[in-house]
Amino acid sequence: MLDELRATALAELAAVANDAAAEEYRLKYLSKKGVLRSVLKGLGELPEDQRRIVGARANDLREEIERKFDGAPWRSAPVSQSSGSFDYSLPGLAFPRGSLHPLQRIRNEIRDIFISMGFDVSYGPEVESDYYNFEALNTPRHHPARDMQDTFYISPEVVLRTHTSPVQVRVMESMKPPIRSIMPGRVYRNEEISARSYCLFHQVEGLYIDENVSFADLKGTLLAFARRFFFDKAEIKIRPSFFPFTEPSVEVDVRCFLCKGNGCPICKQSGWLEVLGAGMVHPNVLKAGNIDAERYTGFAFGMGIERIALLKYGIDDIRLFFENDVRFLRQF
Ligand code: PHE
Repeated sequence: MLDELRATALAELAAVANDAAAEEYRLKYLSKKGVLRSVLKGLGELPEDQRRIVGARANDLREEIERKFDGAPWRSAPVSQSSGSFDYSLPGLAFPRGSLHPLQRIRNEIRDIFISMGFDVSYGPEVESDYYNFEALNTPRHHPARDMQDTFYISPEVVLRTHTSPVQVRVMESMKPPIRSIMPGRVYRNEEISARSYCLFHQVEGLYIDENVSFADLKGTLLAFARRFFFDKAEIKIRPSFFPFTEPSVEVDVRCFLCKGNGCPICKQSGWLEVLGAGMVHPNVLKAGNIDAERYTGFAFGMGIERIALLKYGIDDIRLFFENDVRFLRQF
């Protein structure tokens, strides 16, 4: 009789597939009034010698069924906590982790290299006065160089800064030479939005002022930077250019880090990439910053972070940096 009971109990247990069925099964077989305990209760009617044998077997059977019920396969499927059975051995929920925005990564890399060369980091306002953005940078009203940058005016005296160069003047006003500072930040230009240009972007400005700072220091600093940031055999090329706030002014190219100068589509087969503007700080700018232009000289440079990020990651549309599409951001 116990063998028959065991066979049906096991067959029914095998058919249990969900919480509701399991509860029904538990009531039927394992609860106080369940079949397996009723068998034990019925033992009293048996003769003494049989009672012990049947009792022991009935107990074994109950324990076996209980064990198998607890370890039944449907239990290994996730169950809700409210069902009363929660599997603590299941892997936890993976929370999605964010990552640094590509622009922030590039900015941090640039910053860390200059910090290791003895520069500190300064910041200035994005809503800037016309004075700092232009006048103090040797670019008076009606100066034709103002057309180089299409400016968002908030009022005739207040602009969204078009470059990080105004921070140079603020740093000069607040520090005494020697000054070695980089100034990262967001800048704005009223340009038509396209794959190549956006109404806002980021720059890192650099400024070094001390006695006897020469153009050779500028070249050496930028070469050291290029070799750490791009690749260890990087070279730089310096071309004459014009900015009102530097004299002489230059444009700096770096050997294409993708083809190492052999020519590729990114550098348009030239082997060089234009990466920054620079020059020796114009004496008028030193004066605006209350620096003794007879005693001190300095160099400054400014580079666009988006441009470097586009090149470095092989991205062909600047707008991707600002749309915050997670499918794009997840790649970094
Ligand atoms: N401010 C210039 C620009 O936005 C870059 C620059 C910075 C040039 C410092 C010279 C010195 O184009």
